[in-house]
Amino acid sequence: MTKPKVLMALYAGGKHAEEESRLLGTIENELGIRKLVESYGYELVTTDDKDPEPTSTFDSHLKDAEIIITTPFFPAYVTKERISKAPNLKLCITAGIGSDHYDLNALNERGIAALEVTGSNVVSVAEHAVMTMLILLRNYGEGHNQAISGGWDIAGVAKDEFDIEDKVIATVGAGRIGYRILERLIAFNPKKLLYYDYQPLPDAAIKKLNDASKLFNGVDNIVERVEDIGDLVAQADVVTVNCPLHEQSKGLFDKKLISKMKKGSYLVNTARGAICVAEDVAEAVNSGHIAYGGDVWPVQPAPKDMPWRTMHNPYGKAYGNAMTVHVSGTSLDAQARYANGVKQILTEYFNKTYNYRPQDIIVIDGDYATKAYGQRGKK
Ligand code: NAI
Repeated sequence: MTKPKVLMALYAGGKHAEEESRLLGTIENELGIRKLVESYGYELVTTDDKDPEPTSTFDSHLKDAEIIITTPFFPAYVTKERISKAPNLKLCITAGIGSDHYDLNALNERGIAALEVTGSNVVSVAEHAVMTMLILLRNYGEGHNQAISGGWDIAGVAKDEFDIEDKVIATVGAGRIGYRILERLIAFNPKKLLYYDYQPLPDAAIKKLNDASKLFNGVDNIVERVEDIGDLVAQADVVTVNCPLHEQSKGLFDKKLISKMKKGSYLVNTARGAICVAEDVAEAVNSGHIAYGGDVWPVQPAPKDMPWRTMHNPYGKAYGNAMTVHVSGTSLDAQARYANGVKQILTEYFNKTYNYRPQDIIVIDGDYATKAYGQRGKK
């Protein structure tokens, strides 16, 4: 009798995985789940060959897959077509946060559940977002480039170098990550922290930020909710994107919204690449309107000729490009947390107890859980 199958798409670790066993998110180390999966009588198939659809190794195993696991960093895009080729599919798991690589409507049509490991890498992403702000504002790219290439043109760096202190910083989405970014920014003594979100922050969360600002910087009422996203970006020196990708946020940062941003301002996106219109961002950076940084791309891995790889600002910011590959949420610390979360979800499934953490559920029993559209749920 053939065993039921767990099909997992992860990135290849190669020699790095040999050297570092804590690289759990690799095909070599398999989130540390092989023993668990096999102890329940399942077969585990792990591959990094996820593209192109429909000829990849991933596609060839769909027909037997009962569980699919993938990561946002190197996602297998589980489209309607792929779902239709997986008649036994019951559960999809995201090893991380953000399940937009699953066609959730198609999963709902079949009553297939999708879960993610909420909270697992929120600190990691918040740190990366603050780092990206610093890289852009401090004009790190130009300074570093000179340092390693033998240059010493101080003015060429300093003409585009600023402090975070006294700047207005705005987040689109003030959930787990957005809020943590605001918390971390208090240390920099900003002028104002603005947020745009469907839901107001709880009073206690606002009080915590305001109290910290008062204590450390002597500034009261540092946080403000702005109800119109156009007003928000028009007031901000730095905008950071921290909402999920869904029908309402896809392409949110287009030419029209970007045109409302201040000239010389900064856009940092560690949420999802497709929240921005790629060519509109590249045009705004190349024309000198904004500088841009983050780690998420509309399609991953990004094609070699994707304009965000090479865009740079010819006027204000020497580079204005602080892109990395998608790594913010996959620090070794984060990998341990999301691997552990995947094990917990699998254990509930294998034991048929289904006692999942409510905040991990994206879709279940043919319907959206509150988190699917980015509802914050419990902290
Ligand atoms: P969360 O669920 O705690 O917070 C999301 C917040 O966004 C909620 O407060 C929600 O009300 C708000 N929101 C939803 N749609 C919105 C919209 N159109 N405009 C404004 N606000 C909106 O989620 P969390 O943990 O903060 O993660 C946010 C997103 O960050 C994830 O969905 C994922 O796409 C991305 N992410 C990226 C990672 C990376 O490695 N770069 C790692 C983890 C998450």
